[in-house]
Amino acid sequence: MKNILIQLDTDPQPSVFDRVVAVDSDVDHLFSYGGVTPETVEPLVHGAMFTRGGADLAHTAIFIGGSNVKAGEALLAKVSNTFFGPVRVSVMMDSNGSNTTAAAAVLSARKHLPLPGAEALVLAGTGPVGVRAAQLLAAEGARVRVASRSLDRARAVCDDLQKHAAAGATLTPYAPATSAELQAACAGVQLVIAAGAAGVELLPADVRQTMRDLKVAIDVNAVPPVGIAGISSRDKAVDQAGVICYGAFGVGGLKMKIHKAAVRKLFESNSQVFDTAGIYQIGETLA
Ligand SMILES: NC(=O)c1ccc[n+]([C@@H]2O[C@H](COP(=O)([O-])OP(=O)(O)OC[C@H]3O[C@@H](n4cnc5c(N)ncnc54)[C@H](OP(=O)(O)O)[C@@H]3O)[C@@H](O)[C@H]2O)c1
Repeated sequence: MKNILIQLDTDPQPSVFDRVVAVDSDVDHLFSYGGVTPETVEPLVHGAMFTRGGADLAHTAIFIGGSNVKAGEALLAKVSNTFFGPVRVSVMMDSNGSNTTAAAAVLSARKHLPLPGAEALVLAGTGPVGVRAAQLLAAEGARVRVASRSLDRARAVCDDLQKHAAAGATLTPYAPATSAELQAACAGVQLVIAAGAAGVELLPADVRQTMRDLKVAIDVNAVPPVGIAGISSRDKAVDQAGVICYGAFGVGGLKMKIHKAAVRKLFESNSQVFDTAGIYQIGETLA
């Protein structure tokens, strides 16, 4: 039986990126829908649920994407609530690449640093990638500092992520407004992940030089200026004076592998939901 992936995109135009990856993940047929909302999704999900029955349901799956991660989360909730009993198909959510990118960043770090008890700082830890990176680090037992331009936003993320924290993990909000405050936020940090908006430098060279305990630095912003001074977007496990550095494309290779593996895995059964934790688990088998 042919594998059908139903792409539900919250943007008016379904993402070409996600469509290309679906083709490269050996999907036989791709049905793409744009502008999908929780209000309009039910008939699309019913079309997936009520066509193929029993074990054949595993040959249909749903991918939720789009540039607005909150909208993707709302769509995932509605899709999940539309299923009942065994009448369901597997679902993956990766709006704006948030889950696959965060998984690739944290798994890249884990190759070089034991994460339980590690002092980790997520710069711009309030965006889609940053929140998920902080979640995964906390689930690994790291001591996570979440930085933002707003202490309220950083605190809200920390409060929300407590439920994912493993034993020994901590989540602490920071809102460094000056170079001295940023230096204080960076003191003792072994791992920094910069998850800021494209083209924004978050860690300048002078502050980076003060980070004596730094072992791993990861920046997912490819657009100059990049998020961490001195990192090239092509860096992949490059040793810079004892600090292992990854830039956006250095992380991107693993991210693409995780995305494709997750799409392929959707067709192994009809009841899987791949969100942040599920996508990370798939990444663990690849990193
Ligand atoms: N390498 C890959 O494969 C890949 C895949 C997807 C995304 N990305 C990249 O990953 C990064 C994060 O993505 P995202 O969607 O999470 O980013 P985002 O939502 O655009 O921004 C993340 C955070 O950056 C902070 N920010 C925004 N403008 C800022 C400014 N002018 N100065 C300082 N901070 C600012 C904001 O935090 P506060 O307002 O709380 O300060 C925001 O929550 C982006 O650079 C994106 O291009 C890479």
